[in-house]
Amino acid sequence: MTELTELVIEGGNTLTGEIEIGGAKNSVVALMPAAILGNKVLIEKVPNISDVTNLKLILNYLGVKVTEENDNFLLDMSNIENKPFEEAQVSKLRASYYFMGAFLARFGKCEIYHPGGCVIGERPIDIHLNGFRKLGADIIEEDNKYTIIADKLEGANITLKFPSVGGTINIMIAATTAEGITVINNVAMEPEIDNVIELLNSMGAKIKREDHSIIIEGTKELHEGRVRVIPDRIEAGTYIIAGVLAGEKLKINNVNANHLTALMDILKEIGADIEIHDNYVIASKTEKLLPISVVAEPYPGFPTDLQQPLTTLLTTASGTSYITETIYENRFKNVEYLNQMGADIKQINDKQIMIQGPTNLTGSKVVSTDLRAGACLVIAGLIGNGITRISSIEHIIRGYEHLTDKLTKINANIKIV
Ligand code: EPU
Repeated sequence: MTELTELVIEGGNTLTGEIEIGGAKNSVVALMPAAILGNKVLIEKVPNISDVTNLKLILNYLGVKVTEENDNFLLDMSNIENKPFEEAQVSKLRASYYFMGAFLARFGKCEIYHPGGCVIGERPIDIHLNGFRKLGADIIEEDNKYTIIADKLEGANITLKFPSVGGTINIMIAATTAEGITVINNVAMEPEIDNVIELLNSMGAKIKREDHSIIIEGTKELHEGRVRVIPDRIEAGTYIIAGVLAGEKLKINNVNANHLTALMDILKEIGADIEIHDNYVIASKTEKLLPISVVAEPYPGFPTDLQQPLTTLLTTASGTSYITETIYENRFKNVEYLNQMGADIKQINDKQIMIQGPTNLTGSKVVSTDLRAGACLVIAGLIGNGITRISSIEHIIRGYEHLTDKLTKINANIKIV
């Protein structure tokens, strides 16, 4: 395929002014499928990202009417149909797997394909499927297709072998209408999950979190609901890191710093100039940063989704830093391109990289191999000397709304060509 669009960044500008964080990608992509359990649902603060566009197309295909007013989406399920999904729709994004749980809860049946998403590891969905089986579903797997059927869903005691974000949400959605009580243990603790609980409970579900468990009292009576998408902690973290690299009192608005404790702790430890306020953070370029060892792990640990943007920051720290990735098998594809730009990063093994700093980055022609690798290269381009050209930007627009507009507004020199 010919490369049609590139991001072109001229590095070296000071980032200043204010930037507004949108609703969380990993929340909204679960909220939109979960909404189909009700009849009318209002979702506020929906981010303008291509994952949302693709979900909207799937909802339209199912007969759901989506009315948009600014960043509020009203979903009307009056004419929803139980239809098999098409492979092309589902393979566009990871979160299409949430239709499995939602269809099971609403129709007791789902015919769907394996989800798409960033190629950053194997990403099986066995935890989701085992959970559905425990609730009473039968699953036929053929090639890439799943046919999941449950004449009746019954509450169960389910312990996840790993606190999977998608698995936790998907099983919880399915269990919403199951008969009796479901207890899911060893669940993921990410705040996006609580956002989904908030929506489902507003629709009449009876779900509560107790530490590492989620307890669901099944109910068939779901009605209308509403929810506001929480601020995107990964988008916020990315711009906070950009502020520490190139900001002058860069104000990042609509941030819930409580969701970013692990990042804030690390930034403080390396000496970054950040001020944390109730709803915003101010970040400024810091001349001398200390090196650090960081482990990306499930929430509330340091998020894997910020590991690649943090790598760019650590190329400027004085000394040897380490990043250990424990969630995915293949999330260091950004390293090759950072090194091409002048970084000194060695991959020690599948799980760990060593970053020797400080190094100066120089603009280069690089590839956004996945969403957060793209974000890492965008901020590298912002501090790189000269021009950086990033291709495969479709990955970046899956998760960063109005990227060029937001960055231009804070004085970056960036455009899509
Ligand atoms: N895993 C299994 N079996 C499963 C599910 C997961 O082995 O059934 C493994 C995965 O292979 C992976 C690990 O468990 O190694 C974590 O996967 P998890 O299920 O927690 O992740 P996910 O639901 O596929 C969501 C986000 C990711 C984010 C992770 C971790 C969505 C749509 N995606 O993925 O977001 O990295 O949680 O926080 O919510 C991103 O935004 O860049 C992104 C990749």
